[in-house]
Amino acid sequence: MERKERDDEGEANVVVFPFPVQGHINPMLQFAKRLASKGAKVTFITTNSQQTKPMQVPSTSINTQAIEFPEGDKANGTEEFVHLFKTLVSKRLANLIEHQISSSSHPPRALVYDSFLPWALDVAKQFGLHGASFFTQSWSNSSIYFHLNQGTLKVPLEENTIVSLPSMPVLGINDLPSFVSDTRSYPTLLKMVIDRFSNFEEADWLFCNTFVELENEIINWMSSKWPIKTVGPAIPSMYLDKRVKDDNDYGLQLFKPESDLCIKWLDSKETGSVVYVSFGSLAGLTEEQMLELALGLKRSNRCFLWVVRETEQKKLPSNFIEETSEKGLVVSWSPQLDVLVHRAVGCFMTHCGWNSTLEALSLGVPMIAMPQWTDQPTNAKFITDVWEVGIRVSKDEKGIIRKEEIERCIKEIMEGEKSLDIKTNSEKWKKIAKAAVDEGGSSDKNIDEFVAKITCN
Ligand code: UDX
Repeated sequence: MERKERDDEGEANVVVFPFPVQGHINPMLQFAKRLASKGAKVTFITTNSQQTKPMQVPSTSINTQAIEFPEGDKANGTEEFVHLFKTLVSKRLANLIEHQISSSSHPPRALVYDSFLPWALDVAKQFGLHGASFFTQSWSNSSIYFHLNQGTLKVPLEENTIVSLPSMPVLGINDLPSFVSDTRSYPTLLKMVIDRFSNFEEADWLFCNTFVELENEIINWMSSKWPIKTVGPAIPSMYLDKRVKDDNDYGLQLFKPESDLCIKWLDSKETGSVVYVSFGSLAGLTEEQMLELALGLKRSNRCFLWVVRETEQKKLPSNFIEETSEKGLVVSWSPQLDVLVHRAVGCFMTHCGWNSTLEALSLGVPMIAMPQWTDQPTNAKFITDVWEVGIRVSKDEKGIIRKEEIERCIKEIMEGEKSLDIKTNSEKWKKIAKAAVDEGGSSDKNIDEFVAKITCN
């Protein structure tokens, strides 16, 4: 269908459609809120599946619509899930957009879809909408998958390979996304991340939750070829700027945060004294690793707030919670942004998921990088060697991070030789991140441009 003239010229109506996991919902919902704050009318699509029971976004500025996907419950994470999601959800998305076009006085003009769902571009084009792919991981990571798609990086790689790619630091095998360093581990997910580049040249925009200053070189390299636009950090402004009161929380939690407990506990601790530990919404540790981490936290003799999701709690050593209750608090989910801005938090032991990385960096919290899988090893490389806002744990020959290493890293980041430089760098990045989304900042301008463009045609 040709993009047709609308009788509601001047309205910027946008549909935003994330892949239904927390690490994708958060940045895309925040982006949706930014669009709404600039006058766009936004419909945010949620998908019911195992992880996303019917959801409500507590925001008056954007409208939400659910696409039913109960079939996904049975096949979550498998190739079957990806196939079902594509075949069933693409039809339901098309129906939803068709309905909006026929019934709304403000029909949509653009579809911003998760880059994990490249087929959504076909739906956008079918109805004459602008199509914008939203990348929820760093451009540096995505560029590695781009090279796989192009054949300029070939896998599998030899054990001690050093990878040199345009406008990227030299990467050792342990700095590469896990799907690349071990192609046998998650072939379905590897295919999914590479497929993001199957039709990306046909998209009208390529958005990414990052900012130009953070990934300058790779962004220069990519933007000389494609319509790349940085729109991050996609973090509610209240956390970046305490003066803004009306934009708290991302707004849609798949897990229930133990907010009061965490904040009251942190309130009782000294400034900069707490180690915050979290591995995000998906990663799971082995029982052996969990034990070493628990013992390392204990040995550090520091206060710690550790997020252990309900499904992981059975791996905790017995009596650990009781034995460490004077120094530690274990919760099943935290209000992470409130934790990271709390004065009591001194460092963040993180799995380096892209959201956690951007959140800590934008809020000035030094990191202990403990990457688990997917894009996290590459994020860890940038945290330590490029932005210099953290240190990385070392594994032993069995691939385990031992208790002594955990203890060493906590001491190092809190009071070691590098700690002052890391704190200074963290403060520097915090300012740059805020400037990027402040009015007239590099990311803010890109969002303005997008809203202006879809308002005009
Ligand atoms: C996944 C991938 O694992 C990650 O590497 C990728 O970059 C994005 O998708 P996830 O593992 O959940 O995400 O990690 P992350 O990207 O850090 O996202 C987790 C989100 O949940 C963050 O926004 C964080 O603030 C939030 N969170 C996490 C909480 O609100 N409370 C918690 O206790 C833990």
